[in-house]
Amino acid sequence: MSATGLPHYWTMFEPRVPGFVQIESPYPYRFHPPDIASDDSRTRGELAADLLEEAILREGADNVAAFIGEPVQGAGGVIVPPDDYWPRIRAICDRHHVLLIADEVITAFGRTGDWFALTRYGIEPDIVTFSKGLTSGYFPLGGMGVSDAIAEAIDSAAGAQTWMHAFTYSAHPVGCAVALANLNILEREELLPRARGLAERLLPRLKTLDSHSHVGEVRGLGLMAAVELVADRETKAEFLPEEMVGARVHAATQERGMFTRMSGNVYNLAPCYIAHQTEIDRMVDILGESIEAVLGK
Ligand SMILES: Cc1ncc(COP(=O)(O)O)c(C=O)c1O
Repeated sequence: MSATGLPHYWTMFEPRVPGFVQIESPYPYRFHPPDIASDDSRTRGELAADLLEEAILREGADNVAAFIGEPVQGAGGVIVPPDDYWPRIRAICDRHHVLLIADEVITAFGRTGDWFALTRYGIEPDIVTFSKGLTSGYFPLGGMGVSDAIAEAIDSAAGAQTWMHAFTYSAHPVGCAVALANLNILEREELLPRARGLAERLLPRLKTLDSHSHVGEVRGLGLMAAVELVADRETKAEFLPEEMVGARVHAATQERGMFTRMSGNVYNLAPCYIAHQTEIDRMVDILGESIEAVLGK
């Protein structure tokens, strides 16, 4: 709750754990690049990543333990960063000896098309956290992976400095058995290639909604996709909260039999890997019908 940059998560958890600093998200649709010199050739992805370096320098590199981020943000509204964002983040972390923590709780195990989302960007984190897709939700289990260097540091600590933590359900045998069975099924039934195939249908079909005058952006990676609704496409102005547009579209989709998640006015879609193309098409149709029902043609 303290690490997230989404303020509505903070409200009930104040005072937050001190020492967390957030940087602006690499949100291609809404990123405001800083004023730069006319001969500055950095891309928007590079400019967004450089906000990390600026924050590290501002705080002092010795005061920064780690940078944590979702490779593709989920609850934030399925935000897919530009391709050059993560490689530059990795380089900045290396330059300043800052650990890179990838929160892959949503993205790991095929959601974006790879076993881990950062694979797409050709980099590895120092620490990775994962959960949902690990058991496909059939049993609650989460976990983390660490680099060899971190594992060695933990293992070599003497006496009372040894890794000390206490969870009732650490390494829960049923959870671990379910995870192994689930990963086995994902491999055996080749569900990642299947998910990639469905993704090739989902995003282009969703893009057909782009012609609606209140659809600001359609975006996604793999089987994570989103449709952002806006009051005005030209200015990208958002609907006023009291109009409850997101909630009304959400209710309209539910009336038509589709249940998923809304982040404000961003409609998020994360179909299962065993969906059929007809179901993907139906999802898009329901969303289109619902948007029209609430906002007109
Ligand atoms: C990106 C992300 N990180 C972390 C969490 C929390 O994970 P867990 O419930 O496994 O602790 C969530 C939960 O939805 C999440 O979406």
